[in-house]
Amino acid sequence: MSNSPTQIQLIQPDDWHLHIRDGEVMKDVLADTARQFARAIIMPNLKPPVTTVDLAKAYQERIQANLNTLGITSFTPLMTLYLTDNTSADEVRKAKAAGIVGFKLYPAGATTNSDAGVSDLKHCYAALEAMQAVGMPLLVHGEVTHADIDIFDREAVFIDAVLEPLRKKFPELKIVFEHITTKQAAHYVRDAVTGGKNTIAATITPQHLLMNRNAIFAGGIRPHNYCLPVLKREEHRVALLEAATSGNSRFFLGTDSAPHAKGAKEAVCGCAGCYSAFNALGLYAEAFESVDKLDKLEGFASFFGPDFYSLPRNTKTITLVKQPQNIPAELPLGDATIVPLRAGETIAWSLV
Ligand code: DOR
Ligand code: ZN
Repeated sequence: MSNSPTQIQLIQPDDWHLHIRDGEVMKDVLADTARQFARAIIMPNLKPPVTTVDLAKAYQERIQANLNTLGITSFTPLMTLYLTDNTSADEVRKAKAAGIVGFKLYPAGATTNSDAGVSDLKHCYAALEAMQAVGMPLLVHGEVTHADIDIFDREAVFIDAVLEPLRKKFPELKIVFEHITTKQAAHYVRDAVTGGKNTIAATITPQHLLMNRNAIFAGGIRPHNYCLPVLKREEHRVALLEAATSGNSRFFLGTDSAPHAKGAKEAVCGCAGCYSAFNALGLYAEAFESVDKLDKLEGFASFFGPDFYSLPRNTKTITLVKQPQNIPAELPLGDATIVPLRAGETIAWSLV
């Protein structure tokens, strides 16, 4: 591959962290993702959350119904369950048998629809034990939520206060540190000693590879660049980009595309979440190209995720071209609209 290609071919990627919501809005966001990705891990933070296998099956059926309406046959949703203080070991075993790919840990109050999240991990030991035993991954939203911790420090504190003790107690548990945002998280995952086992990985979003926290305050408050964990300083963005483009298989793609209607973002108390699904692959390509590492995109986007989850890699290929794509100011979202990431601007790469 030349240093500055104008076209790249990849095995089709998957999105290992995605929010598609429910009801009327789901089919609008699903189409954007299914255009680019073969599979996506569907987050369970609905209202009420997807806490049981039966609820996940019903959600999966609603997703399938929307895929049918859209005429999409090439996309597979991968279902997760929301871990609560009451998740039983039995539910974990049932989930494994039903093909659920992971449990999501939201510390209570950490983000959108996380009120039912875990208040203290001690309540989950039986479930975590069962997850470790059956090889069920735990997907963590890695932030502590105490009011006395500065919002920009929440992820770094989580590593010492929660993640490291958790890994000590359950050394064989497979953990994905989701949407990492700091140098500390990138280095923690890179340097974790696992005895050669595939027990820790991290997903990285496009916004955390492309923007630092200045983007939330550029000339005024920019609610569409606000997500959780919040964007951090430039040194952290640089560390994340370095991790993503390093070829280390512990780092892989997860957009965390999180749709909220325009009015819910541009509000007195605006919701957290960036809608990156419209051209997520173009955003990742831009980030990798910025450090001349487009040759590392395929591993990050298409190989390391399925390898970690013990799923087959995709076989179809896709092509990205260096052709600026205009990003609309707004897109339809049910009977409202949504403002995509980079609205009104261009993205350097697009999908053929
Ligand atoms: O910004 C975010 N939005 N972070 C999350 O963790 C949740 C997500 C959402 O569901 O809107
Ligand atoms: Zn998320």
